[in-house]
Amino acid sequence: MIIDTHMHLYDKKFDEIREEVIKESIEAGITKMIACGCDYETSLKCIELAEKYDFIYAAVGIHPSEAHKIDYVDLSWIYELAKHEKVVAIGEIGLDYYWDKTYIDIQKNMFIKQIKIAKELNLPIIVHSRDSINDTYTILKDNRVNGVLHCFSGSLEMAREFVKLGYYLGVGGVLTFNNSKEIKKVVEEISLDKLLTETDAPYLAPVPFRGTINKPAYIPYIIKKIAEIKNIDVEKAENKLYQNAHDLFKLD
Ligand code: NI
Repeated sequence: MIIDTHMHLYDKKFDEIREEVIKESIEAGITKMIACGCDYETSLKCIELAEKYDFIYAAVGIHPSEAHKIDYVDLSWIYELAKHEKVVAIGEIGLDYYWDKTYIDIQKNMFIKQIKIAKELNLPIIVHSRDSINDTYTILKDNRVNGVLHCFSGSLEMAREFVKLGYYLGVGGVLTFNNSKEIKKVVEEISLDKLLTETDAPYLAPVPFRGTINKPAYIPYIIKKIAEIKNIDVEKAENKLYQNAHDLFKLD
């Protein structure tokens, strides 16, 4: 049982190859996937994918880089979409100061509002945090809810703090990169109980596919690396990582 807890298969890059990529994923043993939305349109596309394939689930929400573009006064569409039986999380939401620091207050506001929606609906959150780990931590500490720090890129020290708050850490292709020292330390030190597997496809393909389009079928490369770092059986890692995702997202 293998799960990709974070992908964007609705992305244009997959338009010509989507069916093939999904078939390839099944052949690679991927049994479940979660498609993550970044705004209204892509959240709808996630639900479309989830309706088409029984092993695909959806997350709906507004990505921090989209936060200023949308009328953030009215978020009723998130409630509407989240009612769908295949929606398992609010995401991806969070803070991103890498691309744009102009709208930090809007990003924070939108992040907090969506955490409150998740709480009301009893759904976990999928958090995107880039160059904003301290503010992300402060907001998550003040607004407790279940969730995952997707594609975790903070220090081991911060990883420990998020885990203390109950958060899972999403681990993807970056773990396999030669120059990724910190995430290797995080995987080594943090309990397997708090890790999740993800691709963020089409981005961040693992070695030996680095630089190409990422696909859910590559998850086994990430599990293998986690098992290697933790010095445990691949199968044991696989089962536990699957169980973690199952527990957080309450998949059937
Ligand atoms: Ni993503």
